[in-house]
Amino acid sequence: MKISVIGTGYVGLTTAVSFALMGHDVIGIDIDQTKVARLQKGEAGIYEPNLEKELQNMLALGKVSFSSSLEAGILSSRAIFVCVGTPPLPDGSADLSALNQVLSSIKERVKATAGASNVTRVVVIKSTVPVGTNDHIARQFADVPELLVASNPEFLREGSALHDSLHPSRIVLGTEEPQALAILEELYASLVCERVRTTRANAEMIKYGSNAFLATKISFMNELARLSAELGADITEVARGMGLDSRIGPYFLGAGLGYGGSCFPKDTSALSELGAQHGVDMPLLKQVQQVNELQPVWFVEQLKKLLPTLAGLKIALLGLSFKPQTDDMREAASLRLIPLLLREGAVLSAYDPLCNEKVRKLYPDLDFADNPYQALAGADAGVLVTEWEQCVKLDFTRVKSTLRQPFLFDGRNAWDKRAAIDAGLTYMGVGRS
Ligand code: UDX
Repeated sequence: MKISVIGTGYVGLTTAVSFALMGHDVIGIDIDQTKVARLQKGEAGIYEPNLEKELQNMLALGKVSFSSSLEAGILSSRAIFVCVGTPPLPDGSADLSALNQVLSSIKERVKATAGASNVTRVVVIKSTVPVGTNDHIARQFADVPELLVASNPEFLREGSALHDSLHPSRIVLGTEEPQALAILEELYASLVCERVRTTRANAEMIKYGSNAFLATKISFMNELARLSAELGADITEVARGMGLDSRIGPYFLGAGLGYGGSCFPKDTSALSELGAQHGVDMPLLKQVQQVNELQPVWFVEQLKKLLPTLAGLKIALLGLSFKPQTDDMREAASLRLIPLLLREGAVLSAYDPLCNEKVRKLYPDLDFADNPYQALAGADAGVLVTEWEQCVKLDFTRVKSTLRQPFLFDGRNAWDKRAAIDAGLTYMGVGRS
């Protein structure tokens, strides 16, 4: 099927490449001409495992192309995926200006050619939007009967985005229009997984609910970790014991420096703001956000229990991106931790496999290293901020000999605590001291 994908950011580009891999003919559209030129050359512009390789394969096969002209894609497509960003406004609500602009252009173009072709097309909203937005769009399109509307949220994780798109846990198809549903069913026919055929509003709520629930699990475990630290319990053992209950499940019980990234912080604020706009107080969601904000502050307090004054001490930060396998720094815990440590007077060295240069632009005075051992050389403490494999799988004997003082602070509970202690290091994790 011929489809277009508007917005070639993280979600849009992954969507475009994955539909091409499923055998469809895809046009990716973006107003940013530089980005389009780069994509035409096969450069993804973001780090995501296998994405650039598959982009190049699909370009070579002619299954995907890129354009900055909406016209090019819309009129030849049965499905028009809208994947533009919905970043938070200062009050936390979602900024729909890019989305609205794209939608009015689509309507204009389709209306202008009405009569010439009466092909039914479905506008599929992948962008995360407040509940009710898709129905509002359907009402706006009411005078263009050949334009249908569906909500089809994505649940892909950065670092495994392409894999998640091709092997989804579920496909949510939110539309009240049978023809739109039929087009989407045909598009996804090759993927084996459960379909949730539902209304547009339910689909929107499923997306927010899923992200907010996952964020809640993390904040809950972080709260429990703070208590575990006081009571001498080990949160990783506690999580293992809890997770074996199938009603709880073993995933997203990892205590650490808190969640980051482009989705959880944005979507929890947007959902909470949506509640406020409709007179529904959501105190649990507010606490989830607050626990997350406080986690790095608490972590620094813990660190000061072993190193009461950080002034003049060299602290090595291992991992800077918001999670491993991505070069995305959005809402990364490192960006909350760095100013807190600098305020204490610490001297910072840092290593990240992909993000050194991005962070150097914000903090040019940090000492950036080419590998974890270089960052740890002569440091008074090493802090695991992001659990990149390069930063987790360390030779602790070598770490001990390179550090000035033998302190390790595991912000992700990912280091081998026993091996670190056996090498003569003093280990402190999040709720597992
Ligand atoms: C998330 C959702 O998982 C995905 O379904 C949605 O489409 C977009 O948002 P992503 O932001 O890529 O995906 O990352 P994810 O793997 O979910 O991790 C989010 C954050 O939570 C990271 O900062 C991670 O370090 C943190 N996290 C995750 C924890 O602190 N503990 C855990 O147990 C799991």
